[in-house]
Amino acid sequence: MTRLAILASGGGSNADAILRYFGGHSNIEIALIACNKKAAGVFQVAENHSVESIYMSRERFSEWDGYLPEFQQRNIDGLILAGFLWKVPDTLIKAYPNRILNIHPALLPKFGGQGMFGIHVHRAVLAARESESGITIHRVDEHYDNGDHVFQAACPVEANDTPETLSKRVLALEHNYYPPVIEKYFNERNDSIDS
Ligand code: GRF
Repeated sequence: MTRLAILASGGGSNADAILRYFGGHSNIEIALIACNKKAAGVFQVAENHSVESIYMSRERFSEWDGYLPEFQQRNIDGLILAGFLWKVPDTLIKAYPNRILNIHPALLPKFGGQGMFGIHVHRAVLAARESESGITIHRVDEHYDNGDHVFQAACPVEANDTPETLSKRVLALEHNYYPPVIEKYFNERNDSIDS
């Protein structure tokens, strides 16, 4: 059984899609949700799915141990960033080599990096008059939105799109593809460890 923790900062719609997908039918278990915003909706998502959740303070997460003891105590094998806005500290990168994934709501390497999150991404895509946008699921390294790409899916940008309508179309791709990509990625990792 692979035990994963989801790191989130917002409403948790990705966390909800992932928890629905893995609800008791896979050898992957979402064992913990960790969030850095006390009022975030993702805590309610955790409660709805009876999954333990913890709050992470910036000082401890970014300046000290990255909450690694909390993950190790729960035998967490990998981390899934789902709408998580802080850079992952080296402590966690080293503890989980090639076992941290993130999803970015654009076709990296364009429209990524610091400050490129949420609605800002879609605003930039429209300003650049792109004909398509989409999602990128990638390994996490010490830079924002920089690790090797694991998966990308595209969607059209419509002439009358607003940042909000584009965001909705991209978010639907996230919900649809992140769970199966997580499952494939970590099953492949387990096969390589077991073999
Ligand atoms: C959304 O902008 C999504 O594109 C990105 O994180 C934000 C919040 O996602 N991945 P969620 O609803 O909290 O999962």
